[in-house]
Amino acid sequence: MEIYRAKDYKDLSRKAANIIQAQVILKPDSILGLATGSSPVGVYEKLIEWYQKGDLDFSKASSINLDEYKGLPPENCQSYRYFMNTKFFDHINIDKSRTFIPNGLEPDADKTCREYDNIIESCGGVDLQLLGLGHNGHIGFNEPADAFSRGTHCVNLTSSTINANKRFFSSEADVPRQAYTMGIRSIMLAKKILVIVSGKDKASILKKVLYGPITPQIPASILQLHANVTIVADEAALTQM
Ligand code: F6R
Repeated sequence: MEIYRAKDYKDLSRKAANIIQAQVILKPDSILGLATGSSPVGVYEKLIEWYQKGDLDFSKASSINLDEYKGLPPENCQSYRYFMNTKFFDHINIDKSRTFIPNGLEPDADKTCREYDNIIESCGGVDLQLLGLGHNGHIGFNEPADAFSRGTHCVNLTSSTINANKRFFSSEADVPRQAYTMGIRSIMLAKKILVIVSGKDKASILKKVLYGPITPQIPASILQLHANVTIVADEAALTQM
């Protein structure tokens, strides 16, 4: 596991974007595993900037997102499809028909999850998976549990996650209670994993993830077993190291 220390969020975003840029340059038809949330916003901004300068070409790339709220249509401004379109896809030359996100509107959870696993499989797996880290150690929406999850599944969000995500909604009551997420096994099958962690409020969970016991109660701790993980964290997130 490589850990890169970034000065601040801006530096973190540039370093992480550099790793994604290298991936796309070396393998133009890369399958990128992408995340939403606050952490990757700066990374997407950098990638857009380099695309606009002519340094990056996404025309052959595909993407598979980690998760989506259940019940939100793509045009809802809190849906992860809306997030990805407005913060990234609308500004680069990726073929939108090859950008995959679980279908939040499909009420049949088994169907959605099966279809999503088929998509991941038919793409041949993820080349580089970008991850943020939840305060409770979640990755994707894989919340603390008694066992590590496998494929895509529907989860009940924990109060910690609902509380953390309410900042994007007009009230806590508006935060969906369920989401579709890629499973831990699917995440672990990615060839490379890039985790970005920013802020003092993530320092204690980051230490547990990197150096604590591997347990499904801290889902990201399983990353200790992956052969190719890069962490880019800012100084604030590394204060307990
Ligand atoms: C988002 C996702 C989540 C976030 C995590 C951290 O697609 O899967 O696991 O990465 O909740 O969120 P932020 O970056 O907002 O702190």
